[in-house]
Amino acid sequence: MPLIPTTPTNAQCEPLRVAVTGAAGQIAYSLLHMIASGQVYGPNQPIILHLLDIEPALDALKGVVMELEDCAHSLLVGIVPTTDPLVAFRDIDWLIMLGAMPRREGMQRKDLLKANVGIFKQQGEALNLVAKKSVRVVVVGNPANTNALIAAHYAPSIPSRNFSALTRLDENRARSLLAIKAGVPADAVRNVAVWGNHSNTQYPCVDHGYVLAADGTRVPIEQALGGSSAGARDFLEGAFIKTVSLRGGAIIAARKLSSAMSAAKATADHIRDWFVGTRPGEFVSMAVMSDGKHYGIPADLMFSVPVTITNGEWSVVKDLPLSSFAQSKLQATAAELVEERTEATAHVEAHAVADAAAAKVAAMAGNGSAQVHAH
Ligand SMILES: NC(=O)c1ccc[n+]([C@@H]2O[C@H](COP(=O)([O-])OP(=O)(O)OC[C@H]3O[C@@H](n4cnc5c(N)ncnc54)[C@H](O)[C@@H]3O)[C@@H](O)[C@H]2O)c1
Repeated sequence: MPLIPTTPTNAQCEPLRVAVTGAAGQIAYSLLHMIASGQVYGPNQPIILHLLDIEPALDALKGVVMELEDCAHSLLVGIVPTTDPLVAFRDIDWLIMLGAMPRREGMQRKDLLKANVGIFKQQGEALNLVAKKSVRVVVVGNPANTNALIAAHYAPSIPSRNFSALTRLDENRARSLLAIKAGVPADAVRNVAVWGNHSNTQYPCVDHGYVLAADGTRVPIEQALGGSSAGARDFLEGAFIKTVSLRGGAIIAARKLSSAMSAAKATADHIRDWFVGTRPGEFVSMAVMSDGKHYGIPADLMFSVPVTITNGEWSVVKDLPLSSFAQSKLQATAAELVEERTEATAHVEAHAVADAAAAKVAAMAGNGSAQVHAH
């Protein structure tokens, strides 16, 4: 492992071990520099990066390591490149799961589910064995919500509340679209909630959001877009939701690759807020394990909700009033997640049968060899 000597400025603080899967891919290429430069965990937090990718990407991964070294980041005190999840996840504090098959043009999200169950099962099991029990996990690889559910399922020794999936990109897309329309900076648009799945059924909701005016007043979003006219409401319940939820597809159509720069920025935002906390009175969107107690969301789904974060612990923002339109959107996205979970469970069961069969064959082979030795 190439180990870069610590400098006097960062030597006092214990390094955080941050693992990134799919480390040779395009999101990682933007994200790793953000982590190593202090934009995610702060300017005084040394980092050891554990970089996991698969064998065919090993040369590319070596190139990424060389570039990270050449950045000469003073906070980056170690790099562990590997193709073995048991090495990548040993003693880690954070895990960012990018490694999955990216959605190509025309590909259905469901097509990805089957391939990804295998990946997230294997990596969940490795996490269970070797990571710190306090590890925080962010799943970005699609279908992100259900992949996170699978990883959590196979890592039962780690609290399920330590797992999350990324919907911050959807929130950022929504806030930016509103900011452009209202003629304000993106950061002035606050408390936009993304509910449900990171898919076309997601519900970006502005009903509790506002635009922070230069004089500190909070202007409800509908009003900032031109008052309570039918036009603003029609936009917010129509073109706005459609544009945000189809944005990923629009980027694939334009770039022939899925969004990467903006996905890296959103991942950095997600982790920074989990690490540092949310601003007082404000929430952010995160897909987390549902407990079945709020907003009619069924239990045991990785469902995006508005959360506040203090001392590294998220809490669902409770009792926000939801219109009947909002309730119907939540039901639709919940139904999709239940369907994905059912499909994933079928794949999980198929894996369990295959594992049991393989174990039986191995045991028989073991018995066979024992008999050979006995003779
Ligand atoms: N949740 C979101 O908002 C969001 C946004 C954009 C992209 N994504 C998803 O993020 C994922 C990564 O996107 P990308 O553009 O970086 O893709 P990419 O194809 O550029 O990189 C993926 C990397 O993962 C690696 N990989 C594949 N299987 C692996 C495994 N089993 N273990 C470790 N690494 C493995 C590949 O070798 C590759 O280097 C995709 O699934 C994409 O759909 C999610």
